[in-house]
Amino acid sequence: MRVLLAGGAGYVGTHTAVALLNAGHEAVLLDDLSGTHAVAAERVAQITGTSVPLVVGDAADDAVVSGVFDDHGPFDAIIHLAAFKAVGESTQKPLDYYSNNLDTTYALMRVGLARGIRSFVFSSTGTVYSDPADLPFTEESTTSIDLSNPYSKSKRMNEVVLEDIARVNPDLNVTILRYFNPVGAHPSGLIGEDPAGIPNNLMPFVSRVAVGSLEQIGIFGDDYDTPDGTGLRDYIHVVDLAEGHVVALEQAQPGFAVFNLGTGTPVSVHELVTSFEKAVGRELPKVVLGRRPGDVAATYCDPAKAERELGWKAQLGIDDACRDYWNWQSTNPNGYAGA
Ligand code: UD1
Repeated sequence: MRVLLAGGAGYVGTHTAVALLNAGHEAVLLDDLSGTHAVAAERVAQITGTSVPLVVGDAADDAVVSGVFDDHGPFDAIIHLAAFKAVGESTQKPLDYYSNNLDTTYALMRVGLARGIRSFVFSSTGTVYSDPADLPFTEESTTSIDLSNPYSKSKRMNEVVLEDIARVNPDLNVTILRYFNPVGAHPSGLIGEDPAGIPNNLMPFVSRVAVGSLEQIGIFGDDYDTPDGTGLRDYIHVVDLAEGHVVALEQAQPGFAVFNLGTGTPVSVHELVTSFEKAVGRELPKVVLGRRPGDVAATYCDPAKAERELGWKAQLGIDDACRDYWNWQSTNPNGYAGA
């Protein structure tokens, strides 16, 4: 298959590009480089030994997307990963988040449909589930659009829009992938997560403490109703997550489908930090702080549908993710900027 990967130079995009190329598919990356560096695409080529075109441009612009089809098409499928994703920032800049995260879908879908794509895979989030009583979340669990921040709302809005589009395009496959917490890096250490500024998410924060650019880990609450009092999450290795995109494309049937991509195994903040310390080989400075507003005690999925229907199951655990994240961070202490 020939695939247009929108947001292809980002964290999930680069790993998905590697997985596609390793499976014998072709990929063209479209990315505005607002959250990543061009060198990330070069690293994909280095890992796979295959050339990977990178088009620098805005996936929300029909003319840009048409240009990619003109120059690099035809494409069988679009994988849409081009989104703003900082939850805190989304509450400060709702217009930017709604506009970017929906306009990219509109432009990619408008052009993709006109050019005859057969499949459209969308990167969504497990935060669309809204009722903790449903844990572990299945694809049938209650979703809401009344979520705590514009980022999550924009993802749920996309799902609603895409379901309507699928309904009137019966030959098209639309697959929604609801990610839980992506972590880890490619085992080569050549690609990984490279957040700008101070990271909001746990593993990149811990990693920055380990590399010495941040002072200490802040644990957001140890008084939750969980086994060790810290928050429980479903951390999915980005290599497994990337593989999920490939099988979703390969197994795609016409119609609308939703899959959770997670491990199904909840891991606490304490457990993640301990695992990272094991990878680094020393204890890391940490302090327990108050709860972060908006956080929930626990979120994790039931990934059985993806196994049943796609034959996909996470193969890697939290120790693999910490080892690989640390390998990437320690060999690239300044991320791609140091390359
Ligand atoms: C966050 C986003 C979510 C997004 C996901 C992507 C929020 C409120 N939610 O989820 O929308 O889909 O990332 O991976 O930002 N923690 C600490 N110290 C830290 C950072 C985090 O103790 O410095 C704790 C949190 O309280 C939580 C766990 O670590 O229990 C994971 O946090 P994080 O990595 O930010 O992910 P989520 O909050 O699950």
